[in-house]
Amino acid sequence: MLSRIVFPLRQQIRNARHCQNITEIQVLTSRTACSSCAATYGNRDRSRPTDYNNSAILPENKFVTVKSSFPRCLSSEAAITAIEKRDRYLELHHEGQVFTIPYMWLRDHCRCSHCFNEETGQKNVSHKISGIGASGVELEEFGTTLKILWEDGHKTEYSVQWLVDNSYSTESKKKTIPLLWDSAKIHSEPMPVVDYESYKTSETGIRETMYNLLRYGFSVVEGVPTSPQDTEEVVLNLNFVEETLFGKMFYIMPNNERPDTAYTNTELGAHNDTCYFTAPIGVMALHCLMHDGTGGETLLVDGFQVAEKLRQEDPAAFTNLTNQIVPHEYVEEGFHIHSHGRVLTIHPASKEMENIRFNPYDMAPLDTIPPNEVEQFYKDYKKLTKLIYDPANSFWFKLHPGMLVFINNWRVLHGRASFTGKRVLSGAYIPYHDWMSKARVAGLV
Ligand SMILES: [Fe+2]
Ligand SMILES: [Zn+2]
Repeated sequence: MLSRIVFPLRQQIRNARHCQNITEIQVLTSRTACSSCAATYGNRDRSRPTDYNNSAILPENKFVTVKSSFPRCLSSEAAITAIEKRDRYLELHHEGQVFTIPYMWLRDHCRCSHCFNEETGQKNVSHKISGIGASGVELEEFGTTLKILWEDGHKTEYSVQWLVDNSYSTESKKKTIPLLWDSAKIHSEPMPVVDYESYKTSETGIRETMYNLLRYGFSVVEGVPTSPQDTEEVVLNLNFVEETLFGKMFYIMPNNERPDTAYTNTELGAHNDTCYFTAPIGVMALHCLMHDGTGGETLLVDGFQVAEKLRQEDPAAFTNLTNQIVPHEYVEEGFHIHSHGRVLTIHPASKEMENIRFNPYDMAPLDTIPPNEVEQFYKDYKKLTKLIYDPANSFWFKLHPGMLVFINNWRVLHGRASFTGKRVLSGAYIPYHDWMSKARVAGLV
């Protein structure tokens, strides 16, 4: 069975600067208006459900426009231009994309008070899915609301914007688009720096830091007083810290305190930290407290950029590194941390880079790759390594006392040049899911 509902007014609506330009079109329900329309008409309750009894769900699946007394704000919501109703799914046409949404999915994602608990934000799992066929499908409010009458009599109303945001799509849903950089690109951009006073005294400074972490993969706070207490305060302003075997706060100086190259004064190649954790830490903070010698410049490499370059130059090598599982470990007396993970992780639908886990220093004995695939793995890993170590992809800068750099450890690799003299950094780790949660709440993810 195939029926098609076409909504021809969408282009006219898009062309209208604001709703007041098309006040001759009036619809059934009112919603929260855009700021311009709110000023003209006032805001109205967005959550009030449409009364199914007063709107016709036509058996032949046509939509109807019902007049109400309010003009409708259309400036910011997604709308469907057409629906194709098939046996087991709907196809929603929106902005040149086609969303294929199975009835089973739609029924399971009903957000009515019977199926979903608004207070807890959780699904009512006792709800039994039955009658997954739809007997009525209707578009309302110029394609911004989809209504389904199910075969068992259940009724569901969806915001099309919600469906676009939440259903399967191979398109990126990121709100902050990462700027992938190599050496030339990052030098042509202003350094992502937030002044300590702005960072400390305003939410804007924190927001800018999170934006930089998503956009560039790192962000500097300049002018931080050079004490460990101030490091901690700056980090805690962003998020709570992840306590690891290194403690909540750690100090990096050439004292061989730990069996790790970081605790020497030798050069350190680009790498990601804590690849030996099941979920590597999300953000690392490094704050320079003092340095009375030379060298020690900080190295950053955009792991997403080099991965994309590999995908372009050698797609098979890229794919292999997204499939093969590599073990990493950290060993010292009393500790043996071990994990398995992919060197490159991509989003299952959009295929965008999500995580790079590159740390040849911490690679554990390779017991995860079948013997006949080992050679190819090393070849492909070497290709990635070559790109990571290519000076054309490196960004070097000096972390002077008072500078604190936050590094998005799921994306950007770090290293340092060898140095002389006494150099003390204090640092901390921030868990991935928690800082991303904060960025999501801030509307950045
Ligand atoms: Fe490190
Ligand atoms: Zn329901």
